[in-house]
Amino acid sequence: MIYPPEIIEEVRSLNDIVEVVAFYVELRARGSNHLGLCPFHREKTPSFSVNADKQIFKCFGCGAGGNVFSFIMQIENFDFLEALKHLAERARYTLPQAKDTKGVKIKAKQKELIIEINKKAARYYYDNLQNETMEATRAAAYLYKRGISQKARKVFGIGTSLDAWDALYKHLIELGYTAADISLSGLSSENKTGGHYDRFRGRMIFPILDIAGKVVGFGGRVLDEQEKTAKYINSPETPLFEKSRQLYGLNIAKKTRMKEIVLVEGYMDVISLYQAGFPNTAGSMGTALTPEHARLLKRVNIESVILLYDSDEAGTKAALRAIPLLLDSGFKVRVAQVHDAKDPDEYILKFGEAKFAALLSGAKSHISFRLGLLAKKYPKYETDEKGPYSQEAAELLATLTSEIETDIYMKELASQTGISPHRLDAEINKAREGKGSKTVYIGNKIRLAERNKQGIQSAYNELLQLLFANNGANRALIKSGALSPDIIENEFYKALLEIAFEGAKSGYSLMPADIISRFDTLDEQKMAADVFNRTIIYESDATVEKALNDMMYRIRDDWYVRRMEDAKTDEDYDMGKINELLEARQNLKNQKITIEQP
Ligand code: CTP
Ligand code: MN
Repeated sequence: MIYPPEIIEEVRSLNDIVEVVAFYVELRARGSNHLGLCPFHREKTPSFSVNADKQIFKCFGCGAGGNVFSFIMQIENFDFLEALKHLAERARYTLPQAKDTKGVKIKAKQKELIIEINKKAARYYYDNLQNETMEATRAAAYLYKRGISQKARKVFGIGTSLDAWDALYKHLIELGYTAADISLSGLSSENKTGGHYDRFRGRMIFPILDIAGKVVGFGGRVLDEQEKTAKYINSPETPLFEKSRQLYGLNIAKKTRMKEIVLVEGYMDVISLYQAGFPNTAGSMGTALTPEHARLLKRVNIESVILLYDSDEAGTKAALRAIPLLLDSGFKVRVAQVHDAKDPDEYILKFGEAKFAALLSGAKSHISFRLGLLAKKYPKYETDEKGPYSQEAAELLATLTSEIETDIYMKELASQTGISPHRLDAEINKAREGKGSKTVYIGNKIRLAERNKQGIQSAYNELLQLLFANNGANRALIKSGALSPDIIENEFYKALLEIAFEGAKSGYSLMPADIISRFDTLDEQKMAADVFNRTIIYESDATVEKALNDMMYRIRDDWYVRRMEDAKTDEDYDMGKINELLEARQNLKNQKITIEQP
């Protein structure tokens, strides 16, 4: 972070979150909460709420949450710095010249330069393919063999690099770029003896365009499978290009204005689907789907996704990882898989477009897909494995938020296994409770029995909320030495506890919304918002003390339990050590932190 927290806090306090959000979302006031339709996922009844007192927002549908910075980062697709600048401007607040702004400017200049060089290079590779050279003939024959049409060549700007060490380098020098400029783009590098060699030599070239249509990088494929080099190489990470932030073909898919997109793994899959009449396709270029990818899809107004990964185990795993990520971002998710072909491209070539279209329209809901995998995991699910199968299936259904949907699948599962709907319902409810998704409030008080059932995470959440809200409790905890940040394994809670302790020392109390801006990634901001989202009201000083000790106890107890587990699995299993831990754990009950009343 290049600005000090005080400046960030000032900008935040100048931007009332309710006003900022109201610019994008229609809000209705209900007490200090304002409700509206969540802009980050599709919904018909409002589950998006903005709290004026705490200056935070939360969506109970998709889980999005944070402060005014998080909101702007998400809705405008800004990074933290951009959001800060935007909100400073909105409040007519002049940010001081930060030390790094020079660095930021240089980076912007570099990006522009790389875009320019990439554009020239893309043109050059494309033109290579139209010439009547050996290389062009060979490349054209390859494209023909793979069934890539003239039109697709044009639309995707497919080209070829020559079989020379430095053909592109020389071309770019001729156009007036310096060796340093060219190195920056990653398209060619200098070796020890001062010679220059191109990154892509003798390969088919697939330019990678961002959604604004700028060439941000390239992928290059060998023409000859026998060659002992990587099948594909890509542009290196530059200030402009990161695989995890781009989706191949999204610039073309975007133009269809369709709400549904097909996600595939490879360059060739995107091109093949385009030719088969599905221009609404994008490829993750062999990498796992990331939250940045999901955000890109949001930006082009996609609402629903069909995952169509390779038919191997890696493809299935990748789909399983992508599902929760996409659901969390509010997309509808279906899954299709090809059979008797390794990937969609091969399938289309082998079985034709009509069969492929049928396969795609038969894409299953993500739940059916996962239930199908479970049935494969427990082949005897109708007999011997009925128990574990139905339990895992119930756990899966417990993740659904719609009651109607849950009911449909539950009935399907019941008829499939012969287990009564009544029992499945009970299993689903049990799985939901285990996840702690049931509310634990009775009025404003948490029932102690309920509290003990919650996970360690909620102990951290409540403890941290308490520490930030109550300086006495914070100081008492520091003084007791019962918990220090360095015994916390979870980096996020560790950071929060450090912030809380620092606050107690400076005697200056932080607003939840300001604590959130101490984190610059959206994920952490969301987690911080979750900590402060619930309001816990303590009836008296005694209940505060009780809560502090309770949370302390649970966190320390969990810590001892885990140390004992470690000691047990340790190579030199040490009974003495285990007994020591056991005793210390017993002793926990006698420890009590007292809060001194001022
Ligand atoms: N990939 C990569 N580097 C590799 C292998 C793969 O970047 N060494 C990326 C490419 O974007 C590729 C995608 O992962 O398109 C999927 O890989 P694969 O299935 O092997 O490639 P296909 O696109 O199916 O290519 P082809 O049909 O030409 O073999
Ligand atoms: Mn392929």
